[in-house]
Amino acid sequence: MVLLGESGGILIPELPRSREGMDRLRGLRLLHTHLDINKSAPGDLLSHEDLMDLLFLRLDSIAVLTVGEWGEPALFQQAHLLPHSPEGRAYRLDPPVAWDRVDTNFAAQTAALEEELAREADGAAVLDSDARCILVSVSTQPRQAQETSLDELAELARTAGLSVQGRLVQRVPKLDYNHILGRGKLAELEVLALQGRAGIIVFDLELSPAQLRNLAEATERKAIDRTQLILDIFAQRAISSAGKLQVELAQLQYRLPRLTGRGKALDRLAGGIGGKGPGETKLETDRRRLRERITRIKDELKNLRGHRANIRSRRAKARLPVVSLVGYTNAGKSTLLNALTGSAVLAEDKLFATLDPTSRRLRFPEERELVLTDTVGFIRSLPKELLEAFRATLEELEEADLLLHVVDAASPEMEQQVRAVDGILEGLNLQDIPRLLVYNKIDNLPDEEKYNLSGASLNENQDGFYGANFAPDSAINFRDYDAVYVSALTGEGLTELGQAIIARVDWRGE
Ligand code: GTP
Repeated sequence: MVLLGESGGILIPELPRSREGMDRLRGLRLLHTHLDINKSAPGDLLSHEDLMDLLFLRLDSIAVLTVGEWGEPALFQQAHLLPHSPEGRAYRLDPPVAWDRVDTNFAAQTAALEEELAREADGAAVLDSDARCILVSVSTQPRQAQETSLDELAELARTAGLSVQGRLVQRVPKLDYNHILGRGKLAELEVLALQGRAGIIVFDLELSPAQLRNLAEATERKAIDRTQLILDIFAQRAISSAGKLQVELAQLQYRLPRLTGRGKALDRLAGGIGGKGPGETKLETDRRRLRERITRIKDELKNLRGHRANIRSRRAKARLPVVSLVGYTNAGKSTLLNALTGSAVLAEDKLFATLDPTSRRLRFPEERELVLTDTVGFIRSLPKELLEAFRATLEELEEADLLLHVVDAASPEMEQQVRAVDGILEGLNLQDIPRLLVYNKIDNLPDEEKYNLSGASLNENQDGFYGANFAPDSAINFRDYDAVYVSALTGEGLTELGQAIIARVDWRGE
């Protein structure tokens, strides 16, 4: 197919679906003329803008033909992408040649490039580009802090089922509300994505609607931010109908102001002619649909909430004390719940494995029984949309008689994680419920560190809630201590944990 444009632009119709994959070339070769001979000075004929179009639109090739004094064709120059060059170069620019000396077989060139694209990336399992991502940090923070945060983002991406193909870190003096990255950095990102065949760019911050819109104008790769990634994970994992609705609500509310419509990048070539009209209308319809769905979900949730309150009050009448597991994501809450109750709640080494509060009965000797509930894992800078949407999930915590704050004792980030959880509990007004700190995963610690965890630094900040130093070999009376050491995996310390729970629960029936 040949599309003809005018001097100001070209209208490109919708292209066949098969060509849309981010790991393929567009199936378009762009040839434009330079009619103004004065502009055809010696040197490269293709401009920087041309090369950016080549990159951002994934053109098969871009070429320019100049015209001589008498209107005859003169010089020709072409460039094409380089799927992977060791120097990280994105394209190859051929030298200009006389138009009748061009002997490139363009179809063969494209076929070879596509073959190379398909062969490369990590060479591993055939993942499509929608499962491959590049992580980007743009921040005013020092590089080290950015890297640490990206490590966490990488974990989240992995949990969401994405394969991380590369990272881009940029430190800026100030964030630009409209443009998250400058054009030059965007080009660098595009090269990374092209070479890693990544269809998704994950930004380690919350993107403003304006930033997202401008990204969609520039690149066709899907840009998502940290919040969306977390919401996606929640969506993949929500189990109960209430949980599913809450996640969907959060997703819709987050998406509504950020709707952009897809594939804007090509519009630039259209020079303002094509694209707009019908696309805009579709966007409006999409918005209206989202709003309607949001209203419906809110109604359904209201009903469900009433239902849950009923269940809770029945439970209260039955006088069963409630113990809730809270903790940073991946601390081992589900594993502990399993270990304590022998039940099979989902436990896997991914962030946010648990979404819905999962309740189990736990039976102690002397006919004492309680309800043990697992909750969603907390994470630093939990997006506010999530706090709101998960209110019902966390409402469960209000009725808890005791919170077991589970900590990954082997994590180098332990202290920050404990504080992050405390901060969120306070934000939910739950700071007055008695808490027991459970140092989990002590099997991962060398013996000499095992019982030295309740350090002064925690004491200072916790109003004496945690960290009463206790010596492991003295006779332990768990009534006196606010920290226990366990391994949910090996079972070490579980008996003591059980005793500590028994000692702290107010057995209302007695
Ligand atoms: P979220 O659902 O993300 O909040 O996680 P969680 O706190 O429920 O953690 P989960 O129980 O899913 O455990 C996370 C990982 O830690 C899993 O791979 C567990 O096998 C592992 N784990 C849990 N407890 C222990 C432990 O005592 N020792 C060791 N070595 N690993 C553990």
